[in-house]
Amino acid sequence: MSDASAKPPRHFGPEIQGAIYLRGLSGAKPEIPTSFTGLEAAAQQKMTSEAWAYTAGAAGLESAMAANRAAFDKYPIAPRMLGGAGVRNLETEIFGAKSAAPIMTCPIGVLEMMHPDADLAVARATQRVGVPMIISSQASFPMEEIAKANGDGERFYQLYWGKSDALAESFVKRAEAIGCKAIFITLDTTALGWRPRDLDIGYMPFLRSQGIAQYTSDPVFRAMLPQTPEENPQAAAFQFTQIFSDPGLDWARIAKIKSWTNLPIVLKGVMRGDDAARAVGEGFDGIVVSNHGGRQVDGGIGALEALPDVVAAVNGRAPVLFDSGIRCGADVFKALALGASAVCIGRPYVYGLALAGDSGVQTVLEYLAAELDFTMALTGCRTPKGIKKDILHLR
Ligand code: FNR
Repeated sequence: MSDASAKPPRHFGPEIQGAIYLRGLSGAKPEIPTSFTGLEAAAQQKMTSEAWAYTAGAAGLESAMAANRAAFDKYPIAPRMLGGAGVRNLETEIFGAKSAAPIMTCPIGVLEMMHPDADLAVARATQRVGVPMIISSQASFPMEEIAKANGDGERFYQLYWGKSDALAESFVKRAEAIGCKAIFITLDTTALGWRPRDLDIGYMPFLRSQGIAQYTSDPVFRAMLPQTPEENPQAAAFQFTQIFSDPGLDWARIAKIKSWTNLPIVLKGVMRGDDAARAVGEGFDGIVVSNHGGRQVDGGIGALEALPDVVAAVNGRAPVLFDSGIRCGADVFKALALGASAVCIGRPYVYGLALAGDSGVQTVLEYLAAELDFTMALTGCRTPKGIKKDILHLR
């Protein structure tokens, strides 16, 4: 990413809103709907039924996904007037990466189901907006190609730690070589959740060789195969299913990562204060409060409900990030008010990707930053750090 401090910070709100109304003078309407409900409905029209089931679905009765949204209603904003926030600066630095706003893209697998450019589109879009991307272990392109598309953008790598430590180590070394500034270990997917929308159509993308490009491009994985993935894609897909996750993963295993790299290690999927305290106590460098968008444990609490406990347990010793349920700028604002250093955007950018490739992802991220910027202007907050808990009406 270009040096954000060299340029004045973007005032996303007036810039994006102004451009829409200006184009409207000649009759043009935004290609990407500006509300989440409009975005989701338009994307559903465009997506295949398999892609829609995979993206929009969640575990079991989908109660944890519903809880994610309900949690935001528990923390309404009580706007403060006359705060003098005429000049705002949304820039944020996180794990040594500079960002134009306190947002980044979540790692999302199998994006080729939504658009052929998949992760390459996300890489280009995040670079243009100036926010980091988290490259998924289940990406549709090898991380080296994604990094190329991302150019001087900021990037992190998300690791699924499966049955093979040697493969996990190889992924970490590759991520370091392509300039990722932190490794996010996703803890909540040591087995694939029970997802009725996918089960009922019998659709498992990985078995069709979708979303396994990090594996088929990896020397350690390739050495596990009798033939190359090019010669025998079915055998590669089957081998992937044998090793991709491991419910036996524990604290002792993941501690090994510190002998493989000096990059910051962030634990994604922490939902309890005691786990967060242990993570920091064992020397991990950051936490993402997340329930994977409700896709793993049905019946679970909403992710935002877990955020205050985790922030209290971490007590300033490491950055706490947040995802799961963010749909608009006010949601970002609430997570920051509850102590998140930055948030990760999930399904909304996937819908932008489905609608318009890289420009769709860029537009969705800019809308979110614009709404956040206006929420800050209208509540007297000049910087993300200036958004304090007392701006929320805590019942
Ligand atoms: C995900 N998520 C995810 N997480 C991860 O660590 N690696 C991955 O490959 C994926 N893949 C993935 C695919 C799809 C289709 C979805 C919707 C989610 C979880 C993701 O990073 C994030 O935690 C959630 O998307 C947050 O929830 P919302 O805000 O999208 O509802």
